[in-house]
Amino acid sequence: MNDLMRWLLNLPPQASTYAARVDGLHYFVIVATMLGSFGVFAVATWFLFRYRRGAAPPPPVTPRIEGTLGSEALTIGALLTLFIAFWIIGFRQFIHIRTMPTDAMEVYVMGKQWMWKFAYPGGQSSVGVLYVPAGRPVKLVITSRDVIHSFYVPAFRMKQDAVPGQYTLAWFEAKEPGTYPIACAEYCGAMHSYMMGDVVALPASEYEAWLAHPEGFVAVRTPRPSDHEGPYFSASDRTPLIAQGEKAMADSGCLRCHSIDGTPHLGPTFSGLYLRREKLAGGGDVVADEAYLTESMMDPGAKLVEGFDNIMPSYRGQLEPVQVGAILHFIKSLHPNDARAAHPNPLPLDGGTP
Ligand code: CUA
Repeated sequence: MNDLMRWLLNLPPQASTYAARVDGLHYFVIVATMLGSFGVFAVATWFLFRYRRGAAPPPPVTPRIEGTLGSEALTIGALLTLFIAFWIIGFRQFIHIRTMPTDAMEVYVMGKQWMWKFAYPGGQSSVGVLYVPAGRPVKLVITSRDVIHSFYVPAFRMKQDAVPGQYTLAWFEAKEPGTYPIACAEYCGAMHSYMMGDVVALPASEYEAWLAHPEGFVAVRTPRPSDHEGPYFSASDRTPLIAQGEKAMADSGCLRCHSIDGTPHLGPTFSGLYLRREKLAGGGDVVADEAYLTESMMDPGAKLVEGFDNIMPSYRGQLEPVQVGAILHFIKSLHPNDARAAHPNPLPLDGGTP
C-alpha cells in the first residue's frame, strides 16, 4: 500500500525515521479528499440524468425539500471528525518533528547565495555536502548570511527556513547510509535553483574516519553548477568549535561584561546559561536556547534579563554566522558540572575530548 501510494504520488524514498509518518498523513488526506471529490462527481452525474429535460412537461413549481436534523448532524459531525483527525495526526507529527532529541549530534548550517556550508563541533567544515552518521539523530542549527533560504531534504521530508540574524533548529535521523539531495526551497535570487547539495549518511565507522580526515572524501558527491565557488573542505582550520567560539568571544569583547565561571558582572554569566530559565525585566521569563541567545547578540534590549541594564551594543553585522555558531557552542559547553553529561554524545565530537 505504502509503495503503491508512493509510486502514484511520485515521492522520493522515505530515508528518515519520520518520513513514513509524514507520508501516512499525506496519503490519508489525499485519499479522503479524492473520495470526497469522487462522491460529489458521482452525485452530480446522477443528477444530470435523473433531472434531465425529458419529454414530459416540467412541474410548475420545484418541490422544496427539507433536511432532517439527524441528517444535518450526521453530515457536519462526519466532516468535522475527519478534519479533527487530520489535525490530531498532523499536530502529533509536528510535536515529534519540532522536539529536538537530547542525544543528537549538532551541525551548524549556514545558507548563503548560493550554497550550503556546514560546521561541525570538532572544527571540521564542508560546503555543499553534509556528512552524518546513519542511524543517529542529527540536530541542525541553521542560519543564513544574506537572505532567507530554506534547507530542504525531500527524502527526509524535512524543510526548515534559514533566516539571517536568527538560528532555527531542525533534526533528522537517516535510516540507512546513502546520498540524499538537498535543495533550497525559498526563492533567494538568480541562482536559487542551483543552490543544491547532498546529505551523505555514512556507517558509524566511516563517519568517524571522515571526522578524522575530511579531505579524503571529496569524491563521494556528484558535481554541481556551483562547484566553481571553491574547495569543498577547508582542512586548514580544524580548531574545535568550542575553541573558535572562545576566541570569537574574546575578540568581540563579550568577556569584558560576561563571566564564564559564574562570577557576577555587568551582564549575566555564561556559566550554565544554556537552557536556563531567565526572569525578564519586563516580566515573564524565557528559556535561554539558541534562538534567545542569538536574539540577545543581535538585539540585546529585546528580552532583557531582570537586574541588568540595557547597555550592550548590538552585534548585528559584526559577527560572521560561523562565529555566532561557535559562540553558541562555547556557551553550551559552559555547564557548571558537565554539559555533556546532560547531552551525551557517543562519538567524539570535540577532537577526542568527551
Ligand atoms: Cu537559497 Cu533559494
